[in-house]
Amino acid sequence: MDDENINLYYEEMGEGLPLVFLHGFPLDHTTWLPAVNILKTRARCILPDLHGLGKSPVKGKETSILQMAKDIIQLMDLLKIQKAVFTGHSMGGYIAMQLAHSFPERVIGLGLVATRPDTDAPDKASARMQSRDEVLRNGSGVIADSMASRLTDNPDTLAELLNIMRNTHPHGVAMSQYAMVHRSDATQWLSSFNFPVAVVAGSLDKIISEEILISMSHQISGAKYYSTPTGTHMVPLEEPDLLARALTETFLSPK
Ligand code: MLT
Repeated sequence: MDDENINLYYEEMGEGLPLVFLHGFPLDHTTWLPAVNILKTRARCILPDLHGLGKSPVKGKETSILQMAKDIIQLMDLLKIQKAVFTGHSMGGYIAMQLAHSFPERVIGLGLVATRPDTDAPDKASARMQSRDEVLRNGSGVIADSMASRLTDNPDTLAELLNIMRNTHPHGVAMSQYAMVHRSDATQWLSSFNFPVAVVAGSLDKIISEEILISMSHQISGAKYYSTPTGTHMVPLEEPDLLARALTETFLSPK
């Protein structure tokens, strides 16, 4: 888990306030493109592929949510960005909260999208580690098959996601699973967030229920809450107007 040569793939579009987008597991930066296509006329949007996912290479044997946060800080240093808004989807939200806790001086605010602050319950953690072993033995198709029915109800979106997941390196998938099982509980950090936060949820989310996002937003002082009755876990991909509105109102033209 050394810090050298993070070598993260990223895309960059637009100019203005830096918005860094952290994708979910085991996906890639393309899940943000519909919203970023709206936001890039108003902000500088940076879309990395997280360690071992998308086009970013696998490096080392294990990683952690803290290490993934450090990778993002290194990317910001490379891009000479002192402070940014971090918007994280699901696992990307775990990283965004870690960034806010560990590197508050680099944070303008957070967008927390279909994510949760607490850690895996014991049964969830052991199922995740079992799934990790299966991914390492049988490939990334294992995780694609097990997540498919819970990610979205839209067959076109699902086909796109299955394609990303099946083409992801099994070691990259396994490293993210290990990192998620061992993540810190961010619940204790929420009350210390003293910057603007937008929470974005889908009422039909089968992976992280809307109740969890409502509760999280109540624990963050001044958080703005956005949700849609048609939203699944794939809010970034399927509800780009809502996400773009949430980030615009909270960070680009705050009232
Ligand atoms: C994600 O969408 O990033 C994952 O479902 C998060 C998780 O499994 O905890």
